[in-house]
Amino acid sequence: AISRVVAREIIDSRGNPTVEVDVELKDGSLGRAAVPSGASTGAREAVELRDGDPTRFHGKGVRRAVDAVNESIADAVIGLDAENQAAVDLTMIELDGTDTKARLGANALLGVSLATAKAAAAAHRQPLYRYVGGVDARLLPVPMMNIVNGGAHADNPLDFQEFMIAPIGAATFAEAVRMGSEVFHTLRRSLIDAGHSVNVGDEGGFAPDLRTAEEALDFVVRAIERTGYKPGSDITIVMDPATSEFFRDGAYDYTGEGVRRTPAEHAAYLAELVDRYPVAAIEDPMAEDDHEGWRDLTARLGDRCQLTGDDVFCTNDTLLRAGIRDGIANSILVKVNQIGTLTETLATVATAHRAGYTVVMSHRSGETEDTTIADLAVATGCGQIKTGSLSRADRTAKYNQLVRIEEELGSQARYAGRQDLGLRR
Ligand code: PGA
Ligand code: ZN
Repeated sequence: AISRVVAREIIDSRGNPTVEVDVELKDGSLGRAAVPSGASTGAREAVELRDGDPTRFHGKGVRRAVDAVNESIADAVIGLDAENQAAVDLTMIELDGTDTKARLGANALLGVSLATAKAAAAAHRQPLYRYVGGVDARLLPVPMMNIVNGGAHADNPLDFQEFMIAPIGAATFAEAVRMGSEVFHTLRRSLIDAGHSVNVGDEGGFAPDLRTAEEALDFVVRAIERTGYKPGSDITIVMDPATSEFFRDGAYDYTGEGVRRTPAEHAAYLAELVDRYPVAAIEDPMAEDDHEGWRDLTARLGDRCQLTGDDVFCTNDTLLRAGIRDGIANSILVKVNQIGTLTETLATVATAHRAGYTVVMSHRSGETEDTTIADLAVATGCGQIKTGSLSRADRTAKYNQLVRIEEELGSQARYAGRQDLGLRR
C-alpha cells in the first residue's frame, strides 16, 4: 500500500519548473517520476497547472500542482494498493472532478500516476517495462531521431518543427542508436561545411538557418548517404511539421518560406515531398482543427505513409475514437502528459491497436532525466518511439535506457525494424 507521497518543484530541460513526485510503499519500495512539458501543445490536452505568479519563474511556477500532490492527492491515495493502478488513477480523476484535470493539474496527477507504477514495479523487483507490459514485453521500438529542429523548437526560419531519421534497417536497438549517431555527426560536418550554425534546438537537433523543408530534407538525405546508409531502406525519414502552429484563418501560413497554402495546396505539397523524398511518416500533417484536411489527406496518402495524429488526438481516447470513425490518420502519437494518467494512456494505446493504428510513444520538447517513456514503449510493444536527437542528456537518457533494456532482455529482445512500423515503403 502507498504510505507516502511527496512532490517537489524541479526544473526541466528548458530551465522551466516542473513537478517531480516520490511515491513510497509500506515495504519501503520507492517510485520517482518527473513530468514533461510541451511547447507546441494541442488545444485539447489535459491542463498543465502553472501558478501564474509573476514573482516566481516568470509565472511558470508549479507550486499549486506540488501542493495539490502533497495535500489533497496524498490524502486520497495513501493506503491504496499501488498495484491497483486503475484505482489510484481513478481516485485522482474523481478528486480533480474536471474533464481536463484543470483543478489539481494534469502535471500533479501524472507525477503521482507514474511514480505509483514505478513503486509497484520496485516492490515486485521488476523493471517497469515488464511490470506494466508482462513477460511478452520484449519489442524494442524504432527510434525517430529528431536531427533538424525548426518551428516552435528553434529560432530559425524553418516552418516545419521536426526532421527525424528512423533506422528501420538496424538489427538491434543499439545498432539503431549507432546509425543515428553516425548520421547526426555526418550532418554536423555537412552543415559546418555549408557555413551553417550547428547549435541545437530544444530537442537536440541542429537548428540551421534554413527556410524550406526541401533544404532540410536534402541535408538529411545526403547525410544518410554520406554515412554509408541507404535512404529509405536502412534509414527512413519522418517529419513533424506541427501544422497546428501555422494554420491561420483556414490556410497554412509558411512564414519562413513566405508562402500561404490552402489546405488542398498544403496537402499536395506534402504528397510531393513524400514522392520526392524517402519520407515514411508524417506527424500532424494537418492542423488539429482542420478535420476536413485530415480526412482528405488520410484518403490520399494513408496507404503509403504513416500519418500520425498528435495535436488532433492529444492521447485522448474519446478524440481518438472520433478520429478513427471519421477516417483521420492511421497512427497516434502518445504523450503521457497530454492525458495525465498511466491508466488512460494505456487505454488509448489499446484503442489504437484494436483499430489497426500504429502507436508512437513520445517525449515532450521540455523533458527531464526521467526515462519512463522508454519503458512504456517496450511495455506497450508499440514499436516506435520519438525522443529527440543524439544530443542533450534529456533526450539521450531515453535511448540509453532502451539500450539497457535490450541488454537485459538478451536473446529475448526483438528490434521492431521495418515490419512493425506500418511504414509501407
Ligand atoms: P511539444 O512538441 O512537446 O513542444 O508539444 C512535440 C511535438 O509536437 O510532437
Ligand atoms: Zn507533434
